[in-house]
Amino acid sequence: MIAKPRYDVIVFGATSFVGKLITDYLWRQYGIDGALSWGIAGRSEERLQELRDGLGDKAAALPIIVASADDEEDLRAMCEQARVILSTVGPYALYGELLVKACAETGTDYCDLCGEPQWIARMAERYHTIAGASGARIVHSCGFDSIPSDMGVWYLQQEAQKAWGKPCQHIQMRVVDSKGGVSGGTVASMLNMAKEASKDATLRKKLADPYLLCPPDHGFRARQMEQKIARYDRDFKQWSAPFVMAAINTRIVHRSNALLNHSYGEDFRYDEAMLTGTGIKGSAMAGAIASATGAMLLGAGLGPLRSALERYVVPKPGEGPSPKLQREGFFVLQFLGHGSGGEKLRLRVTGDGDPGYASTAKMISQAAACLAQDVSHKAVTGGILTPAATFGDDLIQRLQQHADVEFELQ
Ligand SMILES: NC(=O)c1ccc[n+]([C@@H]2O[C@H](COP(=O)([O-])OP(=O)(O)OC[C@H]3O[C@@H](n4cnc5c(N)ncnc54)[C@H](OP(=O)(O)O)[C@@H]3O)[C@@H](O)[C@H]2O)c1
Repeated sequence: MIAKPRYDVIVFGATSFVGKLITDYLWRQYGIDGALSWGIAGRSEERLQELRDGLGDKAAALPIIVASADDEEDLRAMCEQARVILSTVGPYALYGELLVKACAETGTDYCDLCGEPQWIARMAERYHTIAGASGARIVHSCGFDSIPSDMGVWYLQQEAQKAWGKPCQHIQMRVVDSKGGVSGGTVASMLNMAKEASKDATLRKKLADPYLLCPPDHGFRARQMEQKIARYDRDFKQWSAPFVMAAINTRIVHRSNALLNHSYGEDFRYDEAMLTGTGIKGSAMAGAIASATGAMLLGAGLGPLRSALERYVVPKPGEGPSPKLQREGFFVLQFLGHGSGGEKLRLRVTGDGDPGYASTAKMISQAAACLAQDVSHKAVTGGILTPAATFGDDLIQRLQQHADVEFELQ
């Protein structure tokens, strides 16, 4: 008989910038004897102890597990102790594969904050079948990318089915407003992706494919809109600019459609952009964001500029937005769904706290808890999954009740 795991969730990479926020949130939410049993893990026992000491005397019994991302034995031993491993050890393309392999082979559920589509594609290719056989539910992108987008689309599609008996054929997501910062790990992940792409023309072509994360036999043919320049958005009556997270969010949403048996439709279209306002001011802001995004991508792709960015400009590993910015941060997203007969549905998704950090910490913690406690193995079988293909309404409830994320039809 297989022994029952000791913990619901182990946070691997608890000492990362975002891992500390996750630890703090889980501590405040569940403590030691709360509704979720959990522990912290990482490569340095000393840093883990320091993190635990910072929570106060009552946290002395919080379990610590030492494991290195490059030691398969450590990782398998960690997997045996938990229902779910929540990993923040990134860039995932550099440090993440052995853990996904260990989870897939041992049947351990897993979630992460990966925003690196090229790596998720590799994990799907290598471990989807293995995870299917062991029952491990491997769920990537459980932070600001891509929970609000993926769960927002899922939510709107449920409402469309209720209202019209069919899904939206086209959904547009627009960032109406947001405030937040970036951390060293996020920037390192983006720069690493740019480095991989700069050396590999095939990868550059793959990254441009909106269906990159769909299984090879997906059959989707609809042409997807990818915004690269400033443009006036007639549907939202404002100027708009490219949204940098669209590169991962749109791919996750299409994988969800594929995993949910094409329930959004064979010809489903999805796009994302940022709204910048009306008039000359809105147009100038859209132009500035489009130029800055283009320059950043170009700079990250060129070796010498990338090295200069790494050395002088961006936050280093372990650094990130200040506590003040995290508290003051927020996001407001607007979804507009179009039915095939001209019908329209609107959804607003809002979050409290810096989107990529304070809010992400709450979202992934609730995703891990949902995986450990709500999602039965009968309802959702193993594989390389997405948030929408795994969590459904259980996560929407948790996000609204415990993570300050709201889903409101308008
Ligand atoms: N999707 C989203 O919305 C979102 C939001 C935020 C962050 N992220 C992603 O989350 C990841 C973490 O970001 P961050 O800024 O918090 O990172 P960070 O502060 O740079 O931390 C990286 C972590 O990786 C650990 N690590 C590195 N090599 C290891 C190894 N061999 N074994 C075990 N642990 C190892 C480090 O351990 P030590 O502490 O011992 O050095 C540290 O805990 C990044 O990939 C980032 O892109 C995504």
